[in-house]
Amino acid sequence: MTAHRKRVTILGSTGSIGRNALEVAEAHPGVFEIVSLSAFRNVDLLAEQAERFRVKRVGVGEGASGSGFPPDVEVVEGSEALASLASDPDVDLVVNALVGAAGLGPTMAALRSGKRVALANKESLVMAGEIATRAAEESGAELIPVDSEHSSIFRCLAGVPAAEVAGVVLTASGGPLRDVPPGDVAEADVDSVLRHPTWTMGEKVTVDSATLVNKAMEVVEARWLFGLPFERIDVVLHRESIVHSLVRLADGTMLAHLGVPDMRVPIQYAMLYPEPPDGSFGECPPEKLGALHFEPIDYDRYPCFLLVLEAAKRGGTGATIAATADEVAVDAFVGGSIRFGDIATVIEETLAAVTPGAAATVESVLDAEGRAREAAAGAVERLKVREA
Ligand SMILES: NC(=O)c1ccc[n+]([C@@H]2O[C@H](COP(=O)([O-])OP(=O)(O)OC[C@H]3O[C@@H](n4cnc5c(N)ncnc54)[C@H](OP(=O)(O)O)[C@@H]3O)[C@@H](O)[C@H]2O)c1
Repeated sequence: MTAHRKRVTILGSTGSIGRNALEVAEAHPGVFEIVSLSAFRNVDLLAEQAERFRVKRVGVGEGASGSGFPPDVEVVEGSEALASLASDPDVDLVVNALVGAAGLGPTMAALRSGKRVALANKESLVMAGEIATRAAEESGAELIPVDSEHSSIFRCLAGVPAAEVAGVVLTASGGPLRDVPPGDVAEADVDSVLRHPTWTMGEKVTVDSATLVNKAMEVVEARWLFGLPFERIDVVLHRESIVHSLVRLADGTMLAHLGVPDMRVPIQYAMLYPEPPDGSFGECPPEKLGALHFEPIDYDRYPCFLLVLEAAKRGGTGATIAATADEVAVDAFVGGSIRFGDIATVIEETLAAVTPGAAATVESVLDAEGRAREAAAGAVERLKVREA
């Protein structure tokens, strides 16, 4: 039995996706061996997880080792260490549940070493989609989406000839501010922005849902995962978060994938793949679903969406610059330094200040990320002064 267990690393195991991934592992005794886990600063929870899952190694942020780990657990520090956990020959499946640009290095390390990657960290594909998908092709690695929209598309596309696929439609809940009067959105406070109507998620992705940056990044993610041009990827507002995405077919019909909004469903699918998932999570009786609504998105309410998407469409490192500016702005908003409405200003000013180049190598992407981080931090400082 042990010889056949899937050997897994979960990067970002203390976060929302990471904790759900561990629940999935616990729901399937004897299927997974958790080889390694990682956190950034939350070493107390990581130590508990390390003990509970009897892992061999853990990764932590630079200088965060602490002393609470079981004595036989190897503790490694810093971003290079995460890449080493991702390419560990003892590991078959890498669950990348890191948030932000920190996910890129481990995604690349895993793909270059031919792993199956259950990818929650959409930022990896936003920043380096072309490089990552090429690396996967060259090494034989597999990218299995964890984002619910992409997991649904992945499942709908199974067995559909490429010539029959006209495009995909990502559904968006509209986020926590979808019904706030437009004039009040810019002043929304952190608590109301973090109260998502349908999903329970980490802070950054919840704020990104309120700005719709999350959906813009998902469009880019879909572009690379499914090899579709931007004009064949649409977005529709769907308040109930039951239909996770649609696939448009050549004859005008559509395939939909329905399920309760519970991330353990797509995580389980990705972790068990290619074995079929079971009903441990997310039974969805149709008679209990009620009415399902689909509406066009009012993009005036979400200025960040087009800022990020247009930057990505221009190609090269544009998407990296926009995503990095967003990361800095979201941090500043959650930390109380800027207003919600300033997130768009930070992204706009960063895009104006940093010239994009070719995203030919990971180094060029990381160079753009560094320049964007500096420019965005400058924009945050100016906004703080203006608002003081
Ligand atoms: N949450 C969801 O339901 C959901 C749904 C779809 C897609 N996603 C995507 O999944 C990814 C993870 O989201 P999440 O909501 O799970 O995030 P989260 O709750 O904030 O967790 C992030 C994880 O990454 C670690 N981390 C943070 N910064 C790091 C750094 N600089 N270096 C190394 N590790 C770092 C955190 O460690 P500490 O705990 O120590 O800080 C934590 O383990 C994101 O890309 C998000 O867009 C999430």
